[in-house]
Amino acid sequence: MAKLDIINVPDPLLKTKSTPVDKVDDQVRKLLDDMLETMYAAPGIGLAAIQVAVAKRMIVLDTSTEEEENEPLFLINPEVTWESEERNTYSEGCLSVPEHYADVERPAAVRVQYLDYNGQMQEDLMEGLTATCVQHEIDHLNGVVFIDYLSRLKRNMIIKKVQKATKDSVIL
Ligand code: NI
Repeated sequence: MAKLDIINVPDPLLKTKSTPVDKVDDQVRKLLDDMLETMYAAPGIGLAAIQVAVAKRMIVLDTSTEEEENEPLFLINPEVTWESEERNTYSEGCLSVPEHYADVERPAAVRVQYLDYNGQMQEDLMEGLTATCVQHEIDHLNGVVFIDYLSRLKRNMIIKKVQKATKDSVIL
């Protein structure tokens, strides 16, 4: 496995709509493995392929707590097939918007249909943090980052700070 570079806002790639994966083959699985390693190293609980500059509809998640065993989820071509009327608000962050957080309201539960690591069709009910996380990652596949839900003023302020921090940091 290999750790990949994560791109940050305002990289225009993050506004790209990713295209579906045609076939779940070893090349796709290799990228999923690398994405998972990259996500764990960051550390984060979700990562979309576009965040490592690949415009394909693939995400990895793991919302297990530190005390639990890792529970990685690989979702290819995910689609929300149902969402609850009940809504939840979490303070969200994003590996492409380092060190900035904001409250985002989303459906509290969703059903998601997707192809798994072996290319099998699955449909799962997701709730709590996992529901928020999967919706945040599916947004990435549609070119949406959580700061897009904030006022333009707030968003631009965050983007400027991330840009400055990225410019000032020395990558060794
Ligand atoms: Ni994100």
